[in-house]
Amino acid sequence: MGSQILATKPINELLEGAKGEKGGLRRALGPVHLVTLGVGAIIGAGIFVLTGQAAALYAGPAVVLSFILCGIGSGFAGLCYAEFASLIPIAGSAYTYAYATLGEIFAWIIGWALVLEYSFGAATVASGWSGYFASLLADFNIQIPPQWTAVPGTKLVFFQGQWQILGNVLPAIQKAGIDPGTLPHATGIFNLVALIVILVITTILVVGVKESANLNSAAVITKVSAVFVFIALAAIFVIHHPHIAAANWHPFLPKNTGKFGQFGWSGVLRGASVIFFAYIGFDAVSTTAQEARNPQKDMPIGIIGSLVICTFLYIIVAGLLNAVVPYASLNVADPVAVGVKATGVRWGSILVNVGAVAGIGSVMLVMLLGQSRIFYTMSQDGLLPGWAGEVHPRFRTPWISSIVVGIPVAIAAAFLPISQLAELVNIGTLSAFVIVCLGVWVLRRKQPDLERPFRTPWVPAVPILGAVIALGLMAGLPALTWYAFLAWAAFGLILYFSYGRHHSQLNRPARG
Ligand code: ALA
Repeated sequence: MGSQILATKPINELLEGAKGEKGGLRRALGPVHLVTLGVGAIIGAGIFVLTGQAAALYAGPAVVLSFILCGIGSGFAGLCYAEFASLIPIAGSAYTYAYATLGEIFAWIIGWALVLEYSFGAATVASGWSGYFASLLADFNIQIPPQWTAVPGTKLVFFQGQWQILGNVLPAIQKAGIDPGTLPHATGIFNLVALIVILVITTILVVGVKESANLNSAAVITKVSAVFVFIALAAIFVIHHPHIAAANWHPFLPKNTGKFGQFGWSGVLRGASVIFFAYIGFDAVSTTAQEARNPQKDMPIGIIGSLVICTFLYIIVAGLLNAVVPYASLNVADPVAVGVKATGVRWGSILVNVGAVAGIGSVMLVMLLGQSRIFYTMSQDGLLPGWAGEVHPRFRTPWISSIVVGIPVAIAAAFLPISQLAELVNIGTLSAFVIVCLGVWVLRRKQPDLERPFRTPWVPAVPILGAVIALGLMAGLPALTWYAFLAWAAFGLILYFSYGRHHSQLNRPARG
């Protein structure tokens, strides 16, 4: 049976299977849809929230270098994803690529890592979204009861006109000379807002991908506008106050405190392994390959196009944010809004809040879309039970898997804290990057003559560099994240050996 777990899926069979599928997914997406889908998946909680934390806690203004490092690493991985997505335009993304190159067990491991990426990622983002949503409503004097916006046990205080997590604002409260005990306070029961938003998005996905893609385009326009508003206002501020910007940027690379990851070059790495979350999402484009009108041509456009646009915007936003606000003040839930406020333009912060709410919302949508597609493909292969691959007769969407994924994701978003989840999502995604990069190289050697509509340049240099940077970023994550990831992988292997291996379609001559 050792040979079965390393069995690979012949690529021709994969392509035939996708073509001949009756009642398969609807091919509705063109190149513009795919780039917007990518940008919709990429710009989100990472740039709007984690940039501030990474600057304040790990890297200072040199978080710009963290963004450049992640951009380069993701670029290499993106080129490898593009080669695979054009070669094997099947819904399963990295999972399918591993199946075609490295063998079933690797495919399972990657599929399981992608489950971590998309489901926990959507849960993480939903949790962050609920905070922005509550604060946007607070701008209009509508208060959601705070105990329903936070995970169980979170201590909240009412400070500066809104409910905030006590731990985040304690230094500011103390600096203002206020006794925190005198402020209105509450304790989180569970995050009802995050739960509801995931259920709403799940319903949209069940009804159909075309409708979802249109909604996504609207959200993408809103959030990209918010990013441009910030860039414009911050740039004008910097031009008028060059001395403030220069002071905030100095020191650009704060000295290491003596602990690994706290400023200095190790801080740049630690910052990069956190803000990597901001880059996650371009690979979600590849999960929709079976719904693309012309996947060979449009997959690389969708992946590379969205990645280049976002990298460019991130570097500018991170640089300007650290120029308008001292990095030490950026450890807040809404750093970009804080940046706009520092420019003195009040309407700017409302616009940024609206953009963040819409933008972070669209990230959840793409992640859940990707997740249900991964389940769909794994079920087609027999590694998951048949219900996960059932397509709705009218909506033509994998509706059962959307619902089965949506409900636990909603529960996770309601009950689990954000920070560790984000790091767990990063480690899962980076491990998928490593396997995809190596897979491109392996397949070039094993099947050099395959017709590749898009070829990753400079193989093996690009795949090797992509894998090395991904491993480096994984090394920057804390030990706890590694333990949780290994536990997740072990659980996945138990499932594989108790179910998937026995039901795999690969070694069965005919399907019933
Ligand atoms: N890149 C996505 C975000 O930053 C996951 O929210």
